[in-house]
Amino acid sequence: MMQRYGRITGWGKYLPPKVLTNFDLEQIVDTTDEWIVSRTGIRQRRMVEDGETNSGMSVKSAQAALAKAQLDPNQLDLIIVATSSPDYFVPPVSSMVQHALGAKGVGAFTLVAGCTGFVYALATAQQFIAAGQADNVLVIGTEILTRNLNWRDRNTCVLFGDASAAVVVQASTEPTGVLSQVLGSDGSGAEALIVRGGGTTIPMSQRVVDEGLHHLEMDGPEVFKFATRTLSRAVRKAVSASGLSLDEINMIIPHQANMRIIELAATLLRLPVDRFYVNLDRYGNTSAASIPLALCEALDEGAVRDGDNLVLVGFGAGLTWAASVVRIGVVESVPTLTAPRMVPLSQFRGAAKRVAGRVLETAVPFVLPLYSRVLRIRKRKPLS
Ligand code: COA
Repeated sequence: MMQRYGRITGWGKYLPPKVLTNFDLEQIVDTTDEWIVSRTGIRQRRMVEDGETNSGMSVKSAQAALAKAQLDPNQLDLIIVATSSPDYFVPPVSSMVQHALGAKGVGAFTLVAGCTGFVYALATAQQFIAAGQADNVLVIGTEILTRNLNWRDRNTCVLFGDASAAVVVQASTEPTGVLSQVLGSDGSGAEALIVRGGGTTIPMSQRVVDEGLHHLEMDGPEVFKFATRTLSRAVRKAVSASGLSLDEINMIIPHQANMRIIELAATLLRLPVDRFYVNLDRYGNTSAASIPLALCEALDEGAVRDGDNLVLVGFGAGLTWAASVVRIGVVESVPTLTAPRMVPLSQFRGAAKRVAGRVLETAVPFVLPLYSRVLRIRKRKPLS
């Protein structure tokens, strides 16, 4: 079989309108704009208001990505939602998104890999496409982190924000899209970023609420060390697996956690820091949404252009990390594959019913008189 690539043909984002600046945070917790900017680079972040949901934000970013790709939701073969903050534990938020998009019967699942979730999800989409199991995949990274933060803990609450971003990945024979992927995990660091309560180890209870165990806890310096160690290594591995050299990489789109982590990675990779796309000053750390959000903005601003080679690189809870080399394809000139797609059974049944209904509607006026004539003939000439 000809090599199949997963080309990014659509991208879209949704940001809750409410902006929370560092100065707003000064009113809530013992911090200063000066501290946050100098230690992280973050100036403001978005925050959901009452009534906004993870699925609702996902649908909005997905619709923007599908519109860009000029793809109907029913043409999708698979939907992957990367998130650690779903609407509910059960049902999976991916099915809620699939239904709300009107992608009837399309397979959907939620992928949890902390802030690395989107890069894992993109790698998964690429594998489905490479194996010939899917032609059109929607990959979403969405988080509502502000609802689980402890607004009295200045170590965490100044870092995170809410956002959603999505890409459409379509099969192509041109070497575009995901060219290589490196996935990693080290569960020995599980406690460095953790929500202790509300799972099955410590189910939701009065104790969880009283002790604030439903909040995100973080060992900042530990995560910082891990991130700086991992980021440059993962980039080098992904670039080498793609057959390219670091010089051929036009832009690195890192997880947007902290400007100092990005600066250190640039030093370790001996790259100028402007080779890294940064928008964390405006949005803070939006976990699984941060890389697709940065990718969307880089594409929309023209910071990344057709033919460019990018590295998407993430790190986060787990601890996890992942990096992919992605080549941006010329949307108009690269053909997408038109292999026969898997049709969900429900769609097939629906279509079959509609066709049968039409046939009956048209045929009944002709068939009925014919049938009654046959009956009359039969009555006259009974079979012996
Ligand atoms: N405002 C003011 N002071 C703060 C503060 C805040 N928002 N948060 C922490 N401090 C204080 C600490 O209490 C500490 O005070 P102390 O020395 O009196 O105890 C001091 O600042 C230094 O704390 P420290 O944790 O050493 O700061 P740091 O330079 O390591 O920066 C982080 C802290 C959280 C910014 C940094 O560790 C970090 O970015 N880690 C990675 C976090 C991350 O990326 N997580 C998500 C990964 S997906």
